[in-house]
Amino acid sequence: MDQKQLFVVGAGVVGLTTAIRALEAGYKVTVFAEIFPTDPKSIKYTSFWAGANHLSFAESGALMEVLEKDTLNEFLDLIKQDPLVPAMTRTHFGLYETLSGAQERLDHFSQFYPDFRSLDASECPAGVVGDVVAGHSWTTICIDVPRYLLYLLERFFKLGGQAFRTTIPSLSSLVSANGRPSMEVFGLNSSSGPQTPTMNPVAVINCTGLGAFSLQDVLDTDVYPTSGQTIIIRAPWVQPSIIYYFANSDISYIIPRQSGDIVLGGSWGVDDWHATSRPEIAKAIKERGVRIYPELLPPGKREKGDINDLDVIAECVGLRTSRKTGVRLETTVLEVDGKKIPVIHNYGHGGGGYQSSWGSAKHVMKLLGELD
Ligand SMILES: Cc1cc2nc3c(=O)[nH]c(=O)nc-3n(C[C@H](O)[C@H](O)[C@H](O)COP(=O)(O)OP(=O)(O)OC[C@H]3O[C@@H](n4cnc5c(N)ncnc54)[C@H](O)[C@@H]3O)c2cc1C
Ligand SMILES: *[C@@H]1O[C@H](CO)[C@@H](O)[C@H](O)[C@H]1NC(C)=O
Ligand SMILES: *[C@@H]1O[C@H](CO)[C@@H](O)[C@H](O)[C@H]1NC(C)=O
Repeated sequence: MDQKQLFVVGAGVVGLTTAIRALEAGYKVTVFAEIFPTDPKSIKYTSFWAGANHLSFAESGALMEVLEKDTLNEFLDLIKQDPLVPAMTRTHFGLYETLSGAQERLDHFSQFYPDFRSLDASECPAGVVGDVVAGHSWTTICIDVPRYLLYLLERFFKLGGQAFRTTIPSLSSLVSANGRPSMEVFGLNSSSGPQTPTMNPVAVINCTGLGAFSLQDVLDTDVYPTSGQTIIIRAPWVQPSIIYYFANSDISYIIPRQSGDIVLGGSWGVDDWHATSRPEIAKAIKERGVRIYPELLPPGKREKGDINDLDVIAECVGLRTSRKTGVRLETTVLEVDGKKIPVIHNYGHGGGGYQSSWGSAKHVMKLLGELD
């Protein structure tokens, strides 16, 4: 029997992870995308801008919760099996200035993370200063995003995946006999393989993230951006993953990367498309970070607590791929040239696309298995 063909649209963390699982399941997979991990960073590609750690905010009983649990287990296995994976386990600390803040999140976190612990104020990680009254801790995954995206891309090609660079006006244009958008082969080395993809996929997987940048499909009006600013700082001595909930509901987070950089956040701009870092937000993020965790500064500079002493690599903004009704993982059907082509949607992961990536890919495999 011929190998079944699959098209995956999108090469962010969601598209690449899905493509890898499909290759491993024996499909012949072609990825189509405008932007790949080796490109310059772009606001149109959310995956470049993530922290990223594992911090579930799924509602109890929601699909997202299952996806995040599967993904946590997958990352723990991956790290055990392959020491070269650009992701590491770290102790995560949730620190609260109010008891109600800790109480609100207790039920969810305590049933989600197997090694969850409630902490009292005396168990703050070394170096944290502030009015902490309660804390939570568990083992999280800290993903070195720039390296991890390259890791996924290499794993995809090693498994025999094919990729084309193209901006598609709609999903149907990809499978239509006339009017297929122009495209070029994309590879990590000077490309050899076929110069045009074949035409008969059993399904198209829609992993286009926010989509709205270039898709002229019937746009899903539930999708919206939640912008997030971060500061990348050189601070290889920082060990823990920290999220700090201030009494006034501000939030600071710190995520270490394998490279020795750390990500300091953050901000949440609902429906905010602004594509460049706002200086006043960047300044507030730095001030909050240094106030609660002077260890962000190089040794010798911590007493003074001056944000200008931070070894800043970059000030960033990304658009989380939010969706009012939550992640979309379902099958619909496209009619093109009289043929019916199943489309499996895998987008709308909001601020959790990394921590739900492997679970989402597994769910897509289940939906694929249910086709005819
Ligand atoms: C500041 C910040 C912090 C975050 N922190 C975390 C965290 O700690 N943990 C976590 O799990 N998540 C985190 N996230 C969320 C995470 O980054 C996203 O959920 C995830 O990256 C979404 O990935 P995606 O593959 O769906 O979309 P994207 O990465 O945006 O990829 C979309 C792909 O589709 C392609 N595409 C779109 N339209 C077209 C078209 N018309 N034609 C061709 N190609 C197209 C694009 O080129 C791209 O390849 C964070 C996000 C931000 C901004
Ligand atoms: C690219 O070439 C390098 C060196 O020749 C090789 O090690 C690597 O596996 C190749 N990568 C791909 C994706 O073919
Ligand atoms: C594919 O996903 C995007 C969101 O990224 C959505 O707007 C679009 O409607 C989807 N395509 C189809 C055909 O449903």
